[in-house]
Amino acid sequence: MQAGALPQELIRAKRDGQALSPEAIRELVGGISDGSLSDAQVGALAMAIYLNGMRAAETVALTEAIRDSGEVLTWDGFGPGSDVLGPILDKHSTGGVGDLVSLVLGPWIAACGGSVPMVSGRGLGHTGGTLDKLESIPGYDIAPTRERFRTLVREAGVAIVGQTAELAPADRRLYAIRDVTATVESLPLIVSSILGKKLACGLDALVMDVKTGSGAFMPTLEKSRELAETIAEVASRAGTPTTALLTDMSQPLAPCAGNAVEVREAIALLTGDKIDGRLLEVTRELAAELLLAGKLARDREAALALLHERLASGAAAERFARMVAGLGGPADLLERHDRYLPKAPVLRPVHAEHGGHVVRMDTRAVGLAVVALGGGRRAPQDAIDHGVGLTGIASIGEAVDGERPLAWVHARSESDAERAASQLRAAIDVNDVDAGDVRLPTLIQDVIRREAP
Ligand code: URA
Repeated sequence: MQAGALPQELIRAKRDGQALSPEAIRELVGGISDGSLSDAQVGALAMAIYLNGMRAAETVALTEAIRDSGEVLTWDGFGPGSDVLGPILDKHSTGGVGDLVSLVLGPWIAACGGSVPMVSGRGLGHTGGTLDKLESIPGYDIAPTRERFRTLVREAGVAIVGQTAELAPADRRLYAIRDVTATVESLPLIVSSILGKKLACGLDALVMDVKTGSGAFMPTLEKSRELAETIAEVASRAGTPTTALLTDMSQPLAPCAGNAVEVREAIALLTGDKIDGRLLEVTRELAAELLLAGKLARDREAALALLHERLASGAAAERFARMVAGLGGPADLLERHDRYLPKAPVLRPVHAEHGGHVVRMDTRAVGLAVVALGGGRRAPQDAIDHGVGLTGIASIGEAVDGERPLAWVHARSESDAERAASQLRAAIDVNDVDAGDVRLPTLIQDVIRREAP
């Protein structure tokens, strides 16, 4: 179906299972941005795409049109010092619980010579959001001016901020209409929505962390794999080499979930207080892929060596500190985080009803327990309680008993803590089995690499 037809004719073509040309898709997206398509037409188009899907070429065209619907950042010739700007690299995750990778990966990549203009989101459903976590740092401004953002990317190598009104505006309208027309769960719509926003940041390479397991956005391993493959394929065809990792979310990635508690965890990792764990492993793998894609390392071994050196030397921590101070946070956050990060007044351990090994978790329910504590939102306008959350969450395979709790709850009140304790006991299965009989999830399940054509 060609461009120039009435919108309703293009919607009819999609409804009847025909493929739309890139020009027709661009016109439709133009109509979404400038309001010439009505809400009814946008809803009908979304439903036609939901029901009939899109061919790869259509999804690429939709992604490019969403990307180009607003400002597309460029980094060439960016004033004095532009020569120090490294390759523009970024990472995106489909979201999870205890997933604070961005807080560590951004500064770590910056310390290795990359530039990371990371536009992040807020918590969605049971998952935490990078912006909510960063807002537990007093003074941290998630909405700096464009010039401040660009200057910080150049000077600190990393700036993690919120989406602006100018970035991919077509997605904002389309997403809001999808949300109320039962058309969120459509692969081409999800892929173009995620990538349209990310690719508007003028990236040289992207790494995607697609989660699978009980806390993942996609319900099955097959669906997560399909999402990972489609994202890598579409982003690369749209000109941004992209690698997607399929990683485990059948338990929280870090042993904590919340906002300030996750910032503390990031600081512990960056400053060398924590030197192992699933969070570090996933972050390191994603970072190594970005260094390779950005040609900052010649092979995987060199990438891992560079990452090790820049973490151990404190260079990554220093980039984090520079970013925080540059966006209005305390200059001595790393040294005195206890003084700045909020804490909840009630702290209590939650013990399992009987001893044994953790065999399984409903990670989504763990995330919802954090939301119920006030660490996430029930409605978009809700305020977040940055001090609440969970720490010391036991891992699958770990023994728990009267001494080792399932987790520690940080709550605003005793009754909140009590409710979270019941939710946790229901979400975490403990059985009287030998440790060797517990099936441990594979952390990194696949790596899908795609070069730009
Ligand atoms: N995140 C997005 O930005 N868009 C979607 O459609 C789904 C998740």
